[in-house]
Amino acid sequence: VIAPTAINAPLVGTPGSRLRLHTPALVLDLDALEHNIAEMARRAARDGVALRPHAKTHKSADIARLQLAAGALGICTAKLGEAVALRREGIAAIHITSPIVTPEKLAIAAQLAAQEPGLSVVADRLDSVPALAQAARAAATTLDVLVDLGMGNNRTGVATPQDAANLAAAIAQAGSLRFRGLQAYAGYLQHIEDKAARKAAAQQDQARVASAVAAITAQGLHCDIVTGAGTGTHDIDGASGVFTELQVGSYVFMDVEYLRVAPWQAGSFQTALFVQTTVINANVANQVTTDAGYKCFAMDGPHPEIASGAPAADARYFFQGDEHGGVIRNNNAPVDLPVGTVLTLTTPHCDPTVNLYDYYHCVRGDTLVALWPVHGRGMSW
Ligand SMILES: Cc1ncc(COP(=O)(O)O)c(C=O)c1O
Repeated sequence: VIAPTAINAPLVGTPGSRLRLHTPALVLDLDALEHNIAEMARRAARDGVALRPHAKTHKSADIARLQLAAGALGICTAKLGEAVALRREGIAAIHITSPIVTPEKLAIAAQLAAQEPGLSVVADRLDSVPALAQAARAAATTLDVLVDLGMGNNRTGVATPQDAANLAAAIAQAGSLRFRGLQAYAGYLQHIEDKAARKAAAQQDQARVASAVAAITAQGLHCDIVTGAGTGTHDIDGASGVFTELQVGSYVFMDVEYLRVAPWQAGSFQTALFVQTTVINANVANQVTTDAGYKCFAMDGPHPEIASGAPAADARYFFQGDEHGGVIRNNNAPVDLPVGTVLTLTTPHCDPTVNLYDYYHCVRGDTLVALWPVHGRGMSW
């Protein structure tokens, strides 16, 4: 029986092994990854704001460690399950950005906080405060709690700045809870392609966040932390003076969706994540079939884009079902990619694509240098 990593493990360290990978394979370009981590750290330092990057994107303790080494003061996870997976790998200072509702999960969160201070959670309902306090008491710890302010899409969060202040006061009075500040993530703004439109919308939201901070301050409380922003608004929010830290996620990898968010000027973020696939059928002239289909990509976004391997500028990838993709050209032109041709595709939407794989195939130049597990794969509870 072959272990999951074994098929490509023998290639680690072999020059030229990048193009010899058994596919489909999730490929991580370490030079681009390191560039992106350093570039975001530089931008945050320039804007005088801290970083708590979102590990929902990569679910990897290895990448979290690189972000922490570059100066991040902690990391975020979307869910408790991701926090458990990363804590098991030694990552601490985790902020969980989705509200936790059930007593069982609250108990686990409180136990994590008891083991290592620095874990924080969010709340968005007044009636959740007694359950949070009870979980912290049962674990004999004090739990750090931020109020989650709903932003635009009403996904999570309290409805109004005044609700945020009322909830902050309840947390502060609960005992065994420590009120730490505000979370305000405006996900619906991140992919507005036009920069001026994105900026105008983000500035409106910043005013809403500032009014929540003011309402909390009027209760005699202090927001040590005001956290939010994604890759799309990192510079706009970072320079606003409203946020103390940024929860950026996708910048580590970039994807087709984010590469469309203009303008990504030279020297900004590079595509670090790819799916590598191989041509397995070329029996007709105007189309070839590859070995990567629906199971290899998140399906909520645009199609994957060909980054390398198909020289014709009009060559494009399309889905051919669960296991297969295809490449065609305009006007039925011959595709001319023999069986065995290796294609590198930019992922449409990086976060849910990563969750489909057990390992990153880490490359430097043309060489596979390591296999990194996706530690939080499937840990979306
Ligand atoms: C709560 C929260 N914060 C931060 C992020 C990171 O955003 P991005 O991947 O756009 O950088 C996300 C992404 O969905 C999120 O849900």
